[in-house]
Amino acid sequence: MAEIGKDIQKAKFYLEHSVQVAIPTETVYGLAANCFDKPAVAGIFEIKNRPSFDPLIVHVPDRKALDSFVREVPRMAEELASAFWPGPLTLILKKKSVLPDIVTSGLDTVGVRVPDHPLTLELLNVLDFPLAAPSANPFGYVSPTTARHVEEQLGDRIPYILDGGPCRVGVESTILGFEKGVPVLYRPGGIAVEDIEAITGPVQRREQVSSNPLSPGMLRSHYAPATRVLFGEIEKNLRDLKGKRVGVISFKKKIKGIAPDHQVVLSERGDLKEAATRLFSGLRSLDALNLQYILCEPVPDTGLGRAINDRLKRANAIH
Ligand code: TXA
Ligand code: MG
Repeated sequence: MAEIGKDIQKAKFYLEHSVQVAIPTETVYGLAANCFDKPAVAGIFEIKNRPSFDPLIVHVPDRKALDSFVREVPRMAEELASAFWPGPLTLILKKKSVLPDIVTSGLDTVGVRVPDHPLTLELLNVLDFPLAAPSANPFGYVSPTTARHVEEQLGDRIPYILDGGPCRVGVESTILGFEKGVPVLYRPGGIAVEDIEAITGPVQRREQVSSNPLSPGMLRSHYAPATRVLFGEIEKNLRDLKGKRVGVISFKKKIKGIAPDHQVVLSERGDLKEAATRLFSGLRSLDALNLQYILCEPVPDTGLGRAINDRLKRANAIH
């Protein structure tokens, strides 16, 4: 089983020897490898059972580390980077050919971000290469927000999990690209789109599902637990499912008639940031109970609420 610890030198040693290591970020845990090391990157796809058409995000210690593998940084991207990095914003930029195609699934663009986590920033600063890292879960499953989550699912496939405690944000980064100079949102996430628009002006939405998505985070069924998830009015779904074994994820209020250990309240005080930190661990804990259904409801669709609703809707799709 994987060792869980806080030893930066140990993580560095593995990464320098083509071995994948799980790392904490402020959003979710990542499964990392040297982005210039093709076999190590190929190993990430194998460990996660991830299709090769799903490109990885490259993590750097600071903005200037982009210059070795990014061709150009548009002015708008510069402004966003200085406003939100380190932080949960991934920018899609043109790549240089030195970055192996396997990282970007053959695209001529690469997703990049500076994660806001002290341990991982320290690690990135002692390495002389950036880290390609998708979320550290089997493909299509809920992302991990603690070292223990990673161990439960990938513990027999990697030697080391760098333990940075529970993730402070709890949902993945916002992904933003630029098409003909216009900012385009590919995935809502830890930075609210309203905050981005305050800098860039209107952002185009491209999050709708499609059968051949540019970003598999846009696949209809993704971020999904094994239990069937129903997204809608909880009380109504409960009436329709009388007699079934159900769990509930509600926004603020407890639901009557459901055992306390079968329900997760995301934030009693209605705080979307707190709700985001409880979302994935809530889905995981209910998924472990062998229930027939997990019922969940939309949260207010502003700020981080957009990312929460996005993940709940995708968890709800039949898979
Ligand atoms: O918060 C996060 O973003 C976490 C932490 C570990 O940084 N990472 C994460 O990675 O969520 P992953 O691989 O689970 O999701 C990354 C998404 C994928 O859906 C991928 O398709 C998209 O980013 N992506 C990566 N490069 C892209 C590109 N060049 N163009 C469009 N989408 C891209
Ligand atoms: Mg993922």
